[in-house]
Amino acid sequence: MLRGPRRPLWLCLCLLLLLLLPGAPGHRGDAGPRNKKAGSGRPWPAFQGLQERLRAAGALSRRYWALFSCRVWPENCEEDEEALAGTLGWGLPLLGQQYLDILTTWYCSFQDCCDSGDCRISNNFTGLKSDLSVRLHGQHLAGELILRTVRGYLELPRPDKALVLSFHGWSGTGKNFVARMLAENLYRDGLRSDCVKVFIATFHFPHPKFVDLYKERLTGQIRETQERCRQTLFIFDEAEKLHPELLEALGPHLGRQAPENYKAQSLRTIFLFLSNLGSNIINEEVLNLLKAGWLREEITLEHLEPRLQAQIVKSTDSAFGHSCLVKENLIDFFVPFLPLEYRHVRLCARDAFLSQELLYTEEALDEIAKMMVYVPKEEQLFSSQGCKSISQRINYFLP
Ligand SMILES: *[C@@H]1O[C@H](CO)[C@@H](O)[C@H](O)[C@H]1NC(C)=O
Repeated sequence: MLRGPRRPLWLCLCLLLLLLLPGAPGHRGDAGPRNKKAGSGRPWPAFQGLQERLRAAGALSRRYWALFSCRVWPENCEEDEEALAGTLGWGLPLLGQQYLDILTTWYCSFQDCCDSGDCRISNNFTGLKSDLSVRLHGQHLAGELILRTVRGYLELPRPDKALVLSFHGWSGTGKNFVARMLAENLYRDGLRSDCVKVFIATFHFPHPKFVDLYKERLTGQIRETQERCRQTLFIFDEAEKLHPELLEALGPHLGRQAPENYKAQSLRTIFLFLSNLGSNIINEEVLNLLKAGWLREEITLEHLEPRLQAQIVKSTDSAFGHSCLVKENLIDFFVPFLPLEYRHVRLCARDAFLSQELLYTEEALDEIAKMMVYVPKEEQLFSSQGCKSISQRINYFLP
């Protein structure tokens, strides 16, 4: 056990020593003066050879330094690694390459550095895909659409606008769950990340009379988060309850034109709006299709989106449909969350047991699924609460 870590550490220390030799820049800025000092005056001839060698070592280590810093801080890298290695004339020797790897690993063991150049951002699309297909139940449309659009957007070299997704569906159908999955797979610290902000309309903006204050705070927080992070996620829960003026204030952040006071760098921003707007239309449409003999998994976006969008624009009990977000087509996709059926509620119950590492029986799953209320009265097809509070309900079935 001891030999493994010790040896690399030794090599690292040697390399560091090399870096600290005169002429080797710890920082780009202080390399100059030190060099001058070493070169000025008239050194004894006996030392000239040594000085030459040191200088060569210095020049070499400066290249190593550049390569190293490119590894660790790819964002500040002026040249690409290949080109830098090329400047060593004979290419980077294998041994040097190994030292470099070791040094990088060693540095990264106590400092933050990652492939993405920012450890807070993880963009684990494999994890996202697996979560959306394994942990999310009964939402084939939302799952596919979200993975495709989020991945496509984050892989754009230079996006010129934010990605805006609006989630619609009954409570308990998975809107919040998916928002959390996104946060967890795109950011190391999930919802607690510096780069993620969650706003709940009735919690963060409860009093209409303070809307001016809220507006200022909200735009300030968006700007600060974007200054801290080049990839940000903003989640607005209960979006149907957002004050009209807040929605208007969000407009400029969603549009193509980034406000001028932002740093001119490529920012990736995702906005999620979660609401129950249009959920009755979704449910109605799904019920009709199922009754007409369609399989749930055969239902496509085309079946739902036009009516969903029309319903949102028409709705009078919320400002959302009349806001600039909808009117100016700032929302990229309206994502329908379908009403959940008995079998999905069972799966949620199973997950709840598994997540607490508890044993379950098929009977217990049925019992829990039967506790939910199913609508419409006649068909009793959809759980009116979706999978909401399933995890509390399993407590009744604990030994
Ligand atoms: C991505 O997520 C999967 C599933 O959650 C996990 O097994 C894997 O280790 C993650 N990859 C990275 C690079 O974090």
